[in-house]
Amino acid sequence: MRRIPSILGDPGWTVCLVGEEQSGKLAQVTAGLRHGPDPSGSGKRITSGFSYWGLESTVAWAHACNDLYYPVMRESIGSFSRRWRAMTQTLPDGPLHYVSLGPGTGQKDQALLRYLDSRGRSGCYIPVDVSAEMLRLAQREALEHLHVPPADVLPVQLDFSMPANLDRLCTLIRHAVGDEPVVYSLLGNTLANFDNDTQLLALLAEKLLRPQDRFLLEVASTAGQDEAAARAAAHEYENSPRFREFVTSALMQYTDLQIDMNSLTCEGLVEDDRALKIKVIYRNRTGGPLELTLPDRSTVPFPDQDTIRLLLSRKYTLAGLEKMLVDARVTKVGETHDVGHAAFDRPAFGLALLMLQSADVPPPPEPRAPGPNPFRD
Ligand SMILES: C[S@@+](CC[C@H](N)C(=O)[O-])C[C@H]1O[C@@H](n2cnc3c(N)ncnc32)[C@H](O)[C@@H]1O
Repeated sequence: MRRIPSILGDPGWTVCLVGEEQSGKLAQVTAGLRHGPDPSGSGKRITSGFSYWGLESTVAWAHACNDLYYPVMRESIGSFSRRWRAMTQTLPDGPLHYVSLGPGTGQKDQALLRYLDSRGRSGCYIPVDVSAEMLRLAQREALEHLHVPPADVLPVQLDFSMPANLDRLCTLIRHAVGDEPVVYSLLGNTLANFDNDTQLLALLAEKLLRPQDRFLLEVASTAGQDEAAARAAAHEYENSPRFREFVTSALMQYTDLQIDMNSLTCEGLVEDDRALKIKVIYRNRTGGPLELTLPDRSTVPFPDQDTIRLLLSRKYTLAGLEKMLVDARVTKVGETHDVGHAAFDRPAFGLALLMLQSADVPPPPEPRAPGPNPFRD
């Protein structure tokens, strides 16, 4: 890289470290689609990262983020700058390195990097995503009009939900930043896409967070939790044509299914007392059996009424969120909570932005009571 520094200054080029074997990922997505029949949406599935993997999904995601009918993401991006600024007094002093876990379109990263840049505090920018195409999109958007030297930008293509990948990512980050503090982020309710959300947060905290680091987490919230609220949460996703294109883009890539948009449903469920859970499901409604051909050319029966879960999301209750933080061994050092209006058929839904640190950081020492002053007493 030292031999081509001037080339890296040309925004037409992007450098990306690929952190895992991509053919192995294809085997993983295929395994998710081989599950047996289940009419409730808990059998065949596209697991989190694969909804975004590849060019079609990346483009479809960028379109969905701008859809007027998909308010969750649009509002989260539009209000991020203001909410982030409210959090900045909880940052450690001095230069900060920024590791963005799943940068998406990069708009939020731009707000965060712009803040650091304007105060002369920016260090390295390390976006980490399962999708190389998403990384390129994010990097371009995030760095627009900023003066971050190309050598300080290190995009990494890797699935951050795998423990072994996090060990390698951690080694890379430590080499790049030494003992200087890092701000990690997991934004856009990405955590809610994972079946084992608490486990993932605990893993990220355990593997990545040192006492000097911070972790910025953004999740969707709900003030109420009953069947009607779950239906209203599901409804938010159902209304957006661009979101429907996004969730079916993985099906288009990994199966030979003739997609019928009327076979797509969003189902809202109450998940214990912790969250509303939304499953975006494709159901075989043809009235007869179908067969799916997978990327490895094997075929899988897709009987009538069988389902493929395309995406999982949640809206957390405040109690559910607090418990998740305790279980993941992280503590809050700052938070903002934007809450919308309740309506006759639904409770208030909102967005929580939390600044976290490892729970293993020792609390600051209690200020000591002043002792006798030898010069006065
Ligand atoms: C819901 S989008 C959020 C995008 C952005 N942070 C925002 O708030 O606008 C999720 C992002 O995480 C990435 N992603 C999802 N699962 C991942 C995984 N297991 N490993 C790496 N990246 C993942 C996706 O490619 C996408 O960029």
